[in-house]
Amino acid sequence: MPGTDKPLDFLWFIPSSGDGAYLGTDDLSRPADPGYFAEIAKAADRLGYSGVLIPTGAACEESFVLAANLAAHTEKLKFLVAIRPGTASPAYYARLASTLDRVSHGRLLLNIVVGGSAQELAGDGIFLPHDERYDHADEFFQVFNQLIETGSAHLDGKYIKAHHATLGVPPVQEPRPPIYFGGSSDAAIDFSAGIIDKYLTWGEPPEQVAEKIGRVRAAAAAKGRRVTFGIRLHFIVRETDEEAWEAADRLISRLSDDTIDAAQKIFRDNSDSVGQARMVALHNGRRDKLEVSPNLWAGIGLVRSGAGTALVGSPATVAARLREYQALGIDTVIASGYPHLEEAYRVSELLFPELGLAGPRNPIRSSFGEKQVFGGGGHAGNIRSAAGS
Ligand SMILES: Cc1cc2nc3c(=O)[nH]c(=O)nc-3n(C[C@H](O)[C@H](O)[C@H](O)COP(=O)(O)O)c2cc1C
Repeated sequence: MPGTDKPLDFLWFIPSSGDGAYLGTDDLSRPADPGYFAEIAKAADRLGYSGVLIPTGAACEESFVLAANLAAHTEKLKFLVAIRPGTASPAYYARLASTLDRVSHGRLLLNIVVGGSAQELAGDGIFLPHDERYDHADEFFQVFNQLIETGSAHLDGKYIKAHHATLGVPPVQEPRPPIYFGGSSDAAIDFSAGIIDKYLTWGEPPEQVAEKIGRVRAAAAAKGRRVTFGIRLHFIVRETDEEAWEAADRLISRLSDDTIDAAQKIFRDNSDSVGQARMVALHNGRRDKLEVSPNLWAGIGLVRSGAGTALVGSPATVAARLREYQALGIDTVIASGYPHLEEAYRVSELLFPELGLAGPRNPIRSSFGEKQVFGGGGHAGNIRSAAGS
């Protein structure tokens, strides 16, 4: 398949509003806890993920502060940090981003999140209608990019006024940390074409992803630019397809119809996001038709806003599905699974070998060359067999 030779760039996710084993209940749930997020980040770093996405929103820990903390707990892991224009000035965000890139020794990636809920944005003091948010974001990132790339910027715009702004300390990465972005409306795609490095889509079926990639490519080409592409998906990978589907069913086994209805009502009433509407349209709140494309399961989107689909199956099955996306031009995967600590292990141990990804970083040797039999021997020494047998 074309485009599938290069290994995928594989990131994980920090569930900064909380985590759990069963969607839509408090059973075995884990509240937001920076100590727990550090455990996930350390696991992701050791297991060979290249980075983690840190979201933003009224229900989440603040993304820049959390990333700075997690950077101190990790060595190589990059931080794809959500930045919501309008919650602070571009000059202030340029200082935040530059310092975060410096304290993490060049491990910052930025994810522009314009926002898709008028109610939530009003709480942040942002009162712009949907499309105008992107006009505002365009001016915001004109200033932000120029400032972080050159150290000075000036704009007397319709939304943003920054007079002779300066930035004293540059980021480690030149000319600036890479900029990612997700948004499915025409206004989003038009905005993204002029500004971003990587376009992110939630996990829609391959035909829909292909259509969006085509639109983004054309919009970028019209501005003389090229962008790359990533996909945000949950994963339910088990040793067999059957076990994986059982795990998917288990994840929503304690979810009541009332909870689904309440969540779907919030998506309808509190969201003007085209991307969110595309996620909802995959299942329309019905739990009887959740495999919306082979091995693509929309069960998570019954109650979770944003990324609502998971690839479900054995390592071979899921790897084959990922190669289909890769053939469309996807080079980056932002993955997650419930709960995020345990599933970080599952995905790395089961799926990475199928994808040709390296797995744990800097493993230390555990024998003098003999194969070890796990669990054999106990304290007195392991059962050993000849190397290679
Ligand atoms: C990969 C990805 C990550 C996103 N992360 C966030 C987030 O952290 N917080 C948030 O409020 N919206 C997030 N979004 C939503 C979008 O940023 C956007 O605000 C919303 O969907 C409106 O876009 P649209 O109407 O142009 O589709 C994310 C979207 C994608 C694709």
